[in-house]
Amino acid sequence: MNNQEQVTKYYDRFSKIYNLISSKRYYHKIRQFAINQLDIQKGDIILNVPCGTGVNFSYFNNYLQNSGKVIGIDLSDGMIRKAKKMIHKKEYTNFEIIKKDVTTLNESWRKSILNNEKFDLILCDLGLSGFPSWKSVIKNLYSLLKEDGKLVIFDFYIEEDTFRSKYIKFFGKGEVNRNIPEYVSSTYSDVTINQSFKKGDMFVATIIKTT
Ligand SMILES: C[S@@+](CC[C@H](N)C(=O)[O-])C[C@H]1O[C@@H](n2cnc3c(N)ncnc32)[C@H](O)[C@@H]1O
Repeated sequence: MNNQEQVTKYYDRFSKIYNLISSKRYYHKIRQFAINQLDIQKGDIILNVPCGTGVNFSYFNNYLQNSGKVIGIDLSDGMIRKAKKMIHKKEYTNFEIIKKDVTTLNESWRKSILNNEKFDLILCDLGLSGFPSWKSVIKNLYSLLKEDGKLVIFDFYIEEDTFRSKYIKFFGKGEVNRNIPEYVSSTYSDVTINQSFKKGDMFVATIIKTT
């Protein structure tokens, strides 16, 4: 079993208690900030990777009010089951969950989903510290955006080994020492970084697509 398969299996099991361990309250401040950065308008088409148990969905729908479309991507059946259950319970009609490896998202996938349209907004939350080939994931996500569209990323960036970095690595199975803020700042031209969350251990990067 390769590492990705192990991580997916882990999340299948972890999905049962994910919402307890990774509490909505713990991430509320950074999540709300990141979602504010998206500046969601009614009718927007939003991609959320990885969508996990659907923790962002109620935030999105506060702005969308059942308009537009949200596509959530995840690879774990367990996490997806929870997300679908929530959509059903809240009677959201504009949400779709797709089981897919984020490293395979590309232009031909976008066309198969949206035809000639592109995404207005993408939220990539607590994913890039765990994905393999994370730099190409960012590149591919950027390519799925329309011009002036926004890619908002939030995650951990902890350079040194600390209690928190070990805890997050243990439960999240990610590499929290990937310097994503530095990478996106040096790769894209319109980038805003806020590294003030969780005593500097978490960041929000907002990237606006330019031509
Ligand atoms: C820490 S959770 C974050 C979920 C959600 N964004 C949140 O903030 O609660 C990480 C998620 O990434 C998913 N994941 C891991 N590798 C993936 C991949 N290659 N493609 C899609 N999803 C993946 C896991 O199944 C898990 O649901």
